[in-house]
This record gives sequence, C-alpha cells and structure tokens, in this order.
Amino acid sequence: MKTIITVFGSTGDLMYKKLLPALTNLIRRNRMNKDLEILCVGRRDYTTEDYIQEAKKQSLDTLEWKYIEPVIKYVKLDIKEKESYSTLNNIIKKNGQDLDVIFYLAVPPNLFPVIAEGISEAKLIEKNDPSRRIVFEKPFGEDLKSAQSINKKLWHYFDESQIYRIDHFLGKDMIQNILVIRFANMIFESTWDHESIESVYIIAKEKEDIGSRGNFYDNIGALKDMVQNHLMQMVSLIAMEEPATFDETGIRQEKVKVLKNLRIDTEDLILGQYQGYKDHDNVDQNSITETFVAFKATINNSRWNTTPFYFMTGKKLNEKRSEIIINFKPNTHVKKLWPDTDLSKNQLIIRVAPEEGIYFEFNVKSAGLTSDIKAIPMDYCHTCQIPDGNVPEAYEKLILDISNNNPTLFPRWDEIETAWAIIDALDKKLPKPFIYKDYDSLKPKLKNLFKEVI
Ligand code: BG6
Repeated sequence: MKTIITVFGSTGDLMYKKLLPALTNLIRRNRMNKDLEILCVGRRDYTTEDYIQEAKKQSLDTLEWKYIEPVIKYVKLDIKEKESYSTLNNIIKKNGQDLDVIFYLAVPPNLFPVIAEGISEAKLIEKNDPSRRIVFEKPFGEDLKSAQSINKKLWHYFDESQIYRIDHFLGKDMIQNILVIRFANMIFESTWDHESIESVYIIAKEKEDIGSRGNFYDNIGALKDMVQNHLMQMVSLIAMEEPATFDETGIRQEKVKVLKNLRIDTEDLILGQYQGYKDHDNVDQNSITETFVAFKATINNSRWNTTPFYFMTGKKLNEKRSEIIINFKPNTHVKKLWPDTDLSKNQLIIRVAPEEGIYFEFNVKSAGLTSDIKAIPMDYCHTCQIPDGNVPEAYEKLILDISNNNPTLFPRWDEIETAWAIIDALDKKLPKPFIYKDYDSLKPKLKNLFKEVI
C-alpha cells in the first residue's frame, strides 16, 4: 500500500520549519512507508523544482534533502476553487486503489471549513474509511462556541476516528513520559495525591517575543495560545486517574475528567504584556492582549482537592524552559528524630525543554564522619540516552502516529471543548495586563504564588 500525504499550506512556516524536517527524519530513520509521496499544495506558480529550491531557502540548514527530495511533488491549486479538489482527486487516483491518504491542513482555521468541504465533496475522504485521515493544527476556534461549531462542521464530513487534532506538546518525549513515570513506578504511584503532594507547578517560559505573528497573536494572547491547549494537556496527564487501558480510549477518557474538575482561581490571576509588544506589526496600539499569564488552580476531586496547581507561561522572559515541578510534603512526623534539622522536601522535576530529563531531590546522611543530613539531586538526562544525539522532534512522533492510525496522542473533541470552557469562564474577569520590562520586573507580582520557583 502506498502512502500519500497531502499538505495544504505547504509554503508556510509550519511546513518549512517543522513538517519537512520531521518527515525527512522519519524517512532517514526508515520509519515511513517506503512507497511514499508528499503532495505539497500551494497557490504559487511553482514547479516541483522551484518549490524545493524555495523550501531549501526557508528550511533548517541541517535538512538532509536526499531523503525527502525524491518523494516531494508540488501541486498548484487554489483551495477556494471547487475544481481544485477534482484535480487533486485525479492526481491521487493515478496511484491506484490501494492507498493510505492523509490530508494535513497547515493553514489558518478560517480555511478549515472550505478545505474540509472540498475534500469531502470530491470524495477524497469518505466517512468511516480509516485509510483516509485529516489532520488539523491548532487553534481549534477561539472559544467554546467556535470550537463546537468547527467540530460540528467536521463531523458533517468525517468520522471522529478520521480526525487528528494536533497539540505538538503531546509529541514531546518527556510529556509522553509523564504516564510512565507515574504508573510504572510504585514509589510515585502510591504517593501521587494531596496526602503526599504539597504543590504542582506547570511552567512554559519562552525567551522569544511574538516576532512577526502580530496578526495572529493579538487576537489570541497567552491564555488561548498556550494555556487552553499545551498547559491543559500537561495538567490532565499529571492529574488523571489510572486509565483502564493504555490506549486512546482509556487515556483520553481520564484526561477529560481532570479538565471537567479544574477551576482557575481568578483572585490570583496575573496577566502581563511585555514592553514593546505594541511596536510589533499588526498589533493594536491600545492592545490589552496578555503575553504572560500566571495563576493558581484546583482540581475538585478526592485525589487532589487540597493540592494547588500553579501555572505560568509567557513570552520575552529570562529563558526558554518548560517543566513540571512536583513538591512533596515535608515528612513532619520524623521531626522528633532530627529536631535541629530542617529536612528538605522531596522534589521531582519533569524537564520537558530545552533539556529533557528527570530531577529528583531526596535526603541523605552526608558522607564521612558527620551525622549531617543534606538534600542531594538525582539528575537523569533523557537526551543523553540517544547515542547519536539525534533527538526526535515532537512532530516526528505525531506524524508517525498519524501514519500508523494511532490517535492516542491527539486531543479528543471533548478535551478541546472542556479546555475552552475553562478559558471562557475567565473572560469577564480578566484584569488589565501589567507591563513588564523583563522577567525580573514580574517577580514582585509572582512572589506570593511562585516564591518557590522564581
Ligand atoms: C505554539 C504557540 O503552539 O507553541 C507558540 O503558538 C509557542 O506561541 C510554541 O511559541 C511553543 O512551543 P515549543 O515547542 O517551542 O515550546
């Protein structure tokens, strides 16, 4: 069976910077079907050679073109024209009947309905045919209502099992590792609740500003760009119950339950906007869009009811760092054994980026002729385990799973809608963002909620 991946939006940044490198690596690693064709759809008047030249200019220098060049074909089409989809159908049909066909929409969401309709009317996808699948990139709407309307439209044309919604954080190795760390280790599984865990911090800091994305970002802000999707996915994996089965049904079922019980504490919501944000092209001069957000949330169920979950994400901060910090409670009932020592609390850090790994701090007797107790770290470097240092990118894992028809790492419609309901509930209560010069200038605002981690 031949695999055909058709990418709409093939002249965009996502294709050049993420999808082409991921596909190249998958071919190099022998993880894609040997019989593969990538149809790059665009409006520009390119030949396949022109397209490859342009892609070479735009993509990362390190791309090993010899792997991907032979399977690329540029297809000039206007996605707003109905006839384009019949043309595409003819191109695909020339490859025979025995095909696995994936349509990847690397385009803004306002084009989802028109492409979905075109694909469906040209019978490029028929409902319930698992050999035809469609992939969407976030944002899935801008609130609950628009997400519901997008989902409704999609279900009109496709079966839910044919729809893949990408949240690229779920393709990151350490995010996939959360469930293994939790459920494959008795030491954590038996202590993973409010009795033992004092607090959880979910952090995704970025050093970069919004660059040339003013048009997109100014209508969205950090809550919708990062919290509704990536941070909500992280907390659902951290807090979910053990799934009945380790597959898409079991895992997604438990994740959505967490989101249904999560409440953001609006009293302590901190919003910020970096100085100079309004100087970007296509940003409103009076914009009150937040580029930083920090808050506390609780999960109303018997496992977590007294454990606070703290979230922080923002642009133009001191560093790029995504991590989850789990602080265990101090072991107070042994105070009588060491009345003069302040025992450190156990801390577990799941490092997602830029380093990937696990850090765990615990107490030991100091070495030598002393009875002092000190906290020592165990620091596991995940990336160091890959011999050639060639760490798979999140998109590699996700594209591989789409090719293998495995939707476990793709948020289900109800996860997305429930996460939107959480963000919608804040809308009327949002304070005006505080203007920050740099991360240090945010610290006084953060000292109450985040004193342990700033
Ligand atoms: C994207 C957001 O989803 O995630 C961007 O739209 C953000 O604003 C990016 O920069 C962060 O992803 P990563 O993988 O670089 O941490």
